[in-house]
Order: sequence, then C-alpha cells, then structure tokens
Amino acid sequence: MTDLSDMRRRFPGLVGGWSRFDGPAGTQAVDVSIEAMAEWQRSGNNANSHGAFPASQACDALTEQVSGTVGELLGADPAGMVFGPSTTANMMALTRAIAADLVPGDEIVCTTLDHDSNVSPWLLAARDSGATVRMAEMDPSTGRLGADAVIDLIGTSTRWVAVTGASNAVGTIPDTAAVTAAAHAVGARVVVDGVHLTPHRRIDVEAIGCDVFTTSSYKWYGPHAGIMWVEPDLLDSLAAYKVRPAPDSGPGRLEYGTPSWEAMAGIDAAARFLLDTTMDAIIEHEESVFGRLLTGLHEIPGVRVVGPADLADRAPTTMFLVNGFTPLQVAGRLADERVAVWDGHNYAVEAMAPFGLDAEAGAVRAGVCAYIGDDDVDRLLAAVDALGGD
Ligand SMILES: Cc1ncc(COP(=O)(O)O)c(C=O)c1O
Repeated sequence: MTDLSDMRRRFPGLVGGWSRFDGPAGTQAVDVSIEAMAEWQRSGNNANSHGAFPASQACDALTEQVSGTVGELLGADPAGMVFGPSTTANMMALTRAIAADLVPGDEIVCTTLDHDSNVSPWLLAARDSGATVRMAEMDPSTGRLGADAVIDLIGTSTRWVAVTGASNAVGTIPDTAAVTAAAHAVGARVVVDGVHLTPHRRIDVEAIGCDVFTTSSYKWYGPHAGIMWVEPDLLDSLAAYKVRPAPDSGPGRLEYGTPSWEAMAGIDAAARFLLDTTMDAIIEHEESVFGRLLTGLHEIPGVRVVGPADLADRAPTTMFLVNGFTPLQVAGRLADERVAVWDGHNYAVEAMAPFGLDAEAGAVRAGVCAYIGDDDVDRLLAAVDALGGD
C-alpha cells in the first residue's frame, strides 16, 4: 500500500512550516494538479467547445477525459457530470430547475447535519414553489444522523430528499444508501452532498443509488470547482434555467457559460492522484493520525470535543471548545504556533444550536487529510494544552 508519510513534498502550498488542519474548508493542491492547470494554459488549447479547429477539439477531448476520470472516482456514469464554479452554485442551478416542477403540498426533506448549500437552496425552492421543507434531526449527543430520522419524514408527498454524505462539522457519515432506498420506494429523488465525503472514502454512487451527488475538487487537492453528478435521464428532464443556445440535453443544460478548462485539467489530475494513491491508503493514514488527534484532545483538561469520541463511520474531522476562550481566540493562538484551524459554524448552521454552540461563534474545527502527520497533531495538541483551559 502507498506510504503517505512523505506526502507533504507533493504539496508545494505547504510552505512556511504550517500545520494545515483547515483541509475541510479547502486543501492545498497536489503538484500534478498545479502542473496540469499551468500546462493547459500554456498549451494553446484555450478555446471553446464544439468548434472546427484543433484547440476546440482539445476542449471537447478534455471534457470527455475529466468526465471519465471523475466517473471512475465516484463510480458514476460520466454522462451525468456537470462542472461548475462550486457546489453551492451547482445546487442553486439544480434547485431552481426543480422548483419549477414543485407545487404546494410537495415536501422536501433536509437535515440538521448538512452544510447550508444543501439546505438553503431547498428553502428557496420551497419559497418559490409553495412546497414544504421538513428537517430530519441528527442526534446532538453523538453528532450522528440516523437513517431512520430521515426515513421517518419520507412519505407519499416527498419529492426530494437532501442528505449529506459526511458532516463537514464533525465528520459523521450517514447511511445514504438506506435513505435513498426509502425515498425511491415512494418515488422521491435524492441528492447526496458528497463534498466532505469524497476526500476520505471510496465513493460508489451506483451503490448508493442516489439521483444527484455533489463534490468540490478543492477539497481533494484540486482546483476551486464543483462537480455535480446528475442521473442522465433526470438531467434531461429537468426544467433547466438556461440560455437558448445551450444544449437541450446533457450536462450543458446546468453549466452556465464557458467552463474553466484549466480547472477541468486540474480536476482530472487531482482525481487521478486520488485513484492512484488509493482510498485504502488514504483511509489507513488518516485514521491513524486522526485517532491520535481525537485521543489527545480528549485528554487535555478544559477541552470539550463536539461530536463522536470514536472513529466509526466518520471522516477525520472534529470540532472542539476550550474553556475560557472563544473559538476565534483559540484559532488565533493556534495560528501564533503556525497551526491553521477554522472557527465558527463552517456553514453547518443547523447543527450549532443542537450541539449547544453559539450560532455564530460555533467551535474550533480541525480536519486531517492526506498530508497531515503525527508531528502536525502533536503541535496542535501542545498549542491547545498550552492555552491552559480551565
Ligand atoms: C459538506 C459541504 N458541502 C458543500 C460545501 C460547499 O462547497 P462549495 O464551496 O464548493 O460551494 C462545503 C464547503 O465547505 C462542504 O463542506
């Protein structure tokens, strides 16, 4: 299995001796992805699609190649691969189209574990259509969202279910296959937000069975972009908001304007990096490093860890508080030691109150990824310990 202990050298952005636990908000890009983007820009292939000259044909070939690579990464049909600037933008395009087909009485099920990009677009679609959003609640004592909490809200009026693949706050991984089966049993469709899951687990969209799966390549060592897989028949049937010359079938229905070709070159390389490194190697490395972090945090007096204390069914991400300090103060003091962590709600806004956290101040979030090692964890733990929380 690939040894990840020397991974840091693959990430030119890891400069200045920083320990970067901010991966859940965006990772550093891997060398091959950076090079692929630069190479594309140098190649003379910057053009537009479906033209009669070679540079344009190179754009078409790139689209086919990156759709295939991401299809391999996600276990999904390349024909449904929609590329956009971000997952939030992709979700807005999707739900705007869906809203046109919703009527009063229709129901959408969302969850309190989700990032707001899988909640607010649905609230807006409900506002515009008269449909109703029902919220499935995660268990704040564990940070876990039981499949039953979602399934219990699914009924004959349910049209769409929007559930996260993994929490970007505390890493927990709901059983999206079970949720999808229950939704499909009543004819409802399912969107899985795979943004936090993709860098940490092998994805098999076909096995999950969902209708839409979203991911953002800047969370997995690639460029800032969002990829939304939409089941191809569904994609063609959506009442897409689009300009008239845009295609009437396929991903172009939900892609607004000329895509970022350089980003697509970078996405292809980043996805290939994940496939070559293998998820098994990434999981083994991350579990070991994250276990050290979690155990260490639990042992420091005055630290409250939010979310589960164990490693089962979770991505390597946790939130914590230090008594006597605001999350922002903790993040600032850790930055003095060159440890980067996030503070706040991290857009997981529905989860803050159930966790007993301030809606804005939230908590401190630390995420492990492929380039984080034991030395980074030890530095973070020493910096938290040195705060002397009471
Ligand atoms: C779980 C999850 N979903 C969605 C998003 C939104 O992604 P984007 O920034 O590409 O819109 C994020 C970003 O932090 C996330 O963590």
